[in-house]
Order: sequence, then structure tokens, then C-alpha cells
Amino acid sequence: MSIDATPSCILVTGGTGFIGSHTVVVLLEQGHEVVIVDDLSNSSEKVLDRIDQIVGEEAAERLTFVRADVADREALDAIFDEFDIDAVIHFAGYKAVGESVQKPIEYYSNNIGNTLVLVDAMRDHGCKSIIFSSSATVYGDPDELPLTESSPKKPATNPYGWTKWMIEEILGSLVVADPEWNVVLLRYFNPIGAHPSGLMGEDPKGIPNNLLPYVAQVAVGRRDAVHVFGNDYDTPDGTGVRDYIHVMDLAEGHAAALSWMMGRNGCEVFNLGTGNGTSVLQIIEAFSTACGHDLPYVIEPRRAGDVTANWADCTKAREQLGWKAKFNIADMCRDSWNWQSHNPNGYEA
Ligand code: UD1
Repeated sequence: MSIDATPSCILVTGGTGFIGSHTVVVLLEQGHEVVIVDDLSNSSEKVLDRIDQIVGEEAAERLTFVRADVADREALDAIFDEFDIDAVIHFAGYKAVGESVQKPIEYYSNNIGNTLVLVDAMRDHGCKSIIFSSSATVYGDPDELPLTESSPKKPATNPYGWTKWMIEEILGSLVVADPEWNVVLLRYFNPIGAHPSGLMGEDPKGIPNNLLPYVAQVAVGRRDAVHVFGNDYDTPDGTGVRDYIHVMDLAEGHAAALSWMMGRNGCEVFNLGTGNGTSVLQIIEAFSTACGHDLPYVIEPRRAGDVTANWADCTKAREQLGWKAKFNIADMCRDSWNWQSHNPNGYEA
């Protein structure tokens, strides 16, 4: 265990979710006190036992779990009254692109509404430091690659994307109104992988929308074949290219942003990616190597709203946060397979 940041008390919304849970592990290992607020609407309480197993008894004592919706103002007030929260990492939100098209009211109301309740509670309790889970989706279909933080934001193609887009603007407005606010917007590229222990990983409910959990479920025999959405893109093998990043690298990125932001004010944006693009077919091949057998796939038409390719320029995070992704695609597929093969049904027994 390394303590490389001044220990603080961090409120993590959505801390039992995929990225949240891995970040909580890193924060506890760095000596921080962590309060998770999560309503478990898209995650399992078993994550908490897994976090305890990974970090050990002493660190686990620094973790508190509050089962509540972030929109529950009374629950938030009770947390801020009881704990001296130094900063908030805000993961909680709905995240299924297709579902957001069907349920725009729910997505706008939940993602944006929750954020407004949260920052209002923060302001009332004098806590003005927040890290927000944004997404490369705010860049839309890029004119130029790699994407830097000054690449233009483009119109989103779905309500989920708009919520990320608008919450960035909302948090930016807080800083304009009150320079004491300290906002970090982290634009994630495509988070995959799992904790190397195999105890924690991604566990989507229902049919996975994202590529990696789908591939992992094919590997474990839960689904027949990977559906490749389009092989006629202008990319080397015709399939879509993304910047996949190991969830542990992403978790470390949050910890780095946290130590960097302490004592500062303003609003800063950072890309969190690896800087490398990988195609759908390359992912299937890498996962086949990780699991030891060829994975069947079928070519399907393009999926509406998908971009051809994107990958990040991560110079800013490296220079300012001192953070750089360490894991490659083989590592990501190995850890994802380790998780999936030991937990074929995710957190459910
Ligand atoms: C998606 C969201 C993005 C969100 C991110 C969260 C869309 C359009 N974008 O990113 O807003 O921030 O998830 O993780 O949904 N693919 C297949 N077969 C599959 C699934 C995906 O071929 O079964 C392909 C896609 O066409 C794409 C690549 O795999 O080329 C990655 O897709 P996915 O994992 O869904 O991520 P994004 O679409 O990049």
C-alpha cells in the first residue's frame, strides 16, 4: 500500500459501479476515507465485500456505504453533516446510450437533476471540489485525431451524451459564478478490464451495450457470437476504432486528479485514455488470445450514432497530473477474462 496523497475524506457517488468501485479501492489504498452514496439501481451490494477483500480490514474501516439516491437531499445533508467531506467524485448516473433515446425524461431528470441536487448540497456545506465523470462522447465525430482537451465539443447524438455535455457546462458555470469552486472534468475514453484480483469487474444488467462485456460473455459461453457493428468504416480493417483504457488506469487517474486539485480553484478538463486506437476485430483477437479460444463473430450493419474512430492525446494529464496509462490491450483482456471466467454471472452467484 502506498500513501502518496494527503489523506482526505471523499464522497463517491455511484461508488459501487464499474469505474466507481475500482476508484474506491485505489482511494482506500492511498489512505483516504471514503463515503459511497449509491442506490444500487445498477450495481450489487456484493461489490462492498469485494472491496473489503481487496483492501483488507484496516483500510476497509475507512469506508462507509450509504444506500441512497443522489437526488435524496436529506440523505446528502446527513452525509455532509456527519463527515467532513473534502471533495466529491461524481460517478452516479444512467449510462445506456440506446435506453437514453427511449427514456429521455428519465435520463435528463436523473443525470442532470441529481447533479444539481448534489452541487446545491455541496455549496450549502462549503464543499466546492468536484471531479465529474465525463466522456469522450462530448467530442462527437472528430475532425482531427488525436483528440486534445481543446478539440471542439460537438452536438451529442443521444440524450445520454447530452447529459454529459450539459453537466460539463453546468459545473463550468459554477466556477464563473463563484471562483471558490474547484471542478475537474475527466473525459473517459473506453474503460474496460477489471481488477487484477478477479474480484471486481464490469457486470452490466441484461444484454451488454458495450463491446467488451459482450465479448467477455461470448468467451464464457453466455452468448453465441460477437456482433460486429460495421466493417465498412474508413479504418485499417473497416471496423470501428476506439481508445480502450484499463479501469485501474482510470481509477489511478482519479486519484491523481484528486491530489492535483487540492488547494486549487477553477475548472479543468482532462482526457483519460491511452493514446492508442484499437479496432473491434483487434479486440476480438486479443480477447481470443486471453481466453485461449477463437471467439465467433458476425458482421452486422453499422450501429446508429457510432463514430468511425477516436483516440486521445493524453499529454495534458501526463504533464499536469503526472498520470499515464500503464496497461495495454493484452493486459485489459487478461484481467477482463480473469474476472469473467471466475464470475461468469457477474456478482450474482
Ligand atoms: C459508448 C457510447 C458512449 C459512452 C460509452 C461508455 C455509443 C454510440 N457511445 O461508446 O457515449 O460514453 O459507450 O462506455 O454507444 N461494437 C460492436 N459490437 C458490440 C458493441 C460495440 O461492434 O456489440 C463496436 C462499436 O460499433 C464501436 C466499438 O465496438 O466501434 C465500441 O463500442 P462501445 O463499447 O459500445 O463503446 P462506444 O460506442 O465507443
